[in-house]
Amino acid sequence: MTSACATTSATVQSPLVVARNVHKSFRHMGRTLEVLRGINLEIGDGEMLGIVGPSGAGKSTLLHCIGTLDVPTKGTITIASDEVTTMPGGRLADLRNRTIGFVFQFHHLLPEFNALENVMMPALVQGRSKRESEIRATALLEEVGLLQRAMHRPGELSGGEQQRVALARALLLEPKLLLADEPTGNLDSTTSGQIHDLLFTINRQRGTTIVVVTHNQSLAASMPRVITLRDGRVEKDERRVTAATITSAQ
Ligand SMILES: Nc1ncnc2c1ncn2[C@@H]1O[C@H](COP(=O)(O)OP(=O)(O)O)[C@@H](O)[C@H]1O
Ligand SMILES: [Mg+2]
Repeated sequence: MTSACATTSATVQSPLVVARNVHKSFRHMGRTLEVLRGINLEIGDGEMLGIVGPSGAGKSTLLHCIGTLDVPTKGTITIASDEVTTMPGGRLADLRNRTIGFVFQFHHLLPEFNALENVMMPALVQGRSKRESEIRATALLEEVGLLQRAMHRPGELSGGEQQRVALARALLLEPKLLLADEPTGNLDSTTSGQIHDLLFTINRQRGTTIVVVTHNQSLAASMPRVITLRDGRVEKDERRVTAATITSAQ
C-alpha cells in the first residue's frame, strides 16, 4: 500500500471539491439539530482521503452533501467548479450521474439480478446500449476480481464479493469522484483489506478521487490524508509525509 502514497501531493493544487462554511441542520422532534457546523474543505483532483470521527460526528451527512444527495442548510459546495448547492434538480442529477460514484456500508445490490446485470444497471438507466454496458461491466468485474462470479446473484456471493460488485457498479460511468461510506463496516479484516487494496488501485490506476468514511484504523492509517470530524467540525486535517510531498517541497 505504500505505493499509493506516491500519488498524493503536498497541497490541493486543483481542487475537485471545495466546501465553504457548510452547515447542515435537521429538525428533529421540534428541535433543530446542528449536524455540520461550518465545514471548510478542499479535495484535490486525484486525491485519496479518509474521514474519521466518532459516531454521530456528521461524517455521513458531509459525504451526502458532497455527493449532492443532501443539500447544506448554509454554505457552498463546488464540484469541478460547478456550484452544486444551488443547482436545479435536473442538472444536479446529471452532474451526479456523470461525476460521482457511491459505495455504502450496505451494498444495495438488486437481489433478483446477477452481478453482471447489477454492474450494468447505471449504464442501462442512462440509455446506453446493452452491448456497450455489458462490455464495460465485464471489464470492471474482471478488475475487481469477480469475472467468475458474473452470473451469480447477490445472495450467492459473500459480503466482500457483494461489496466488490457494488464497487464495480459505482465505477461503471467512470466517476471522477468516488464516495464510500464505511464500505468495510460489515466485513472481516481480511476481506476489508481486499477492498482497501482495490480502492488504492483504483485511485492509482484511474486517478479517481476517493473519499472514504471509515472506522477501520488500518485503512485510516494507510491513507495519505485523514480528516477527523468532531461535533460537525473539522477537528484535524492531517497529511502523511510521503516521498511525493518531500520531493515537491524541495
Ligand atoms: N435525516 C436526519 N434527520 C435527523 N437527524 C439526522 C438525520 N441524519 C442524520 N441525523 C443526525 O445527525 C447526526 C450525525 O449523523 P451522521 O452524519 O450519520 O453521523 P456519522 O456518520 O458521523 O455517524 C446524528 O446525531 C444523526 O442522528
Ligand atoms: Mg455514518
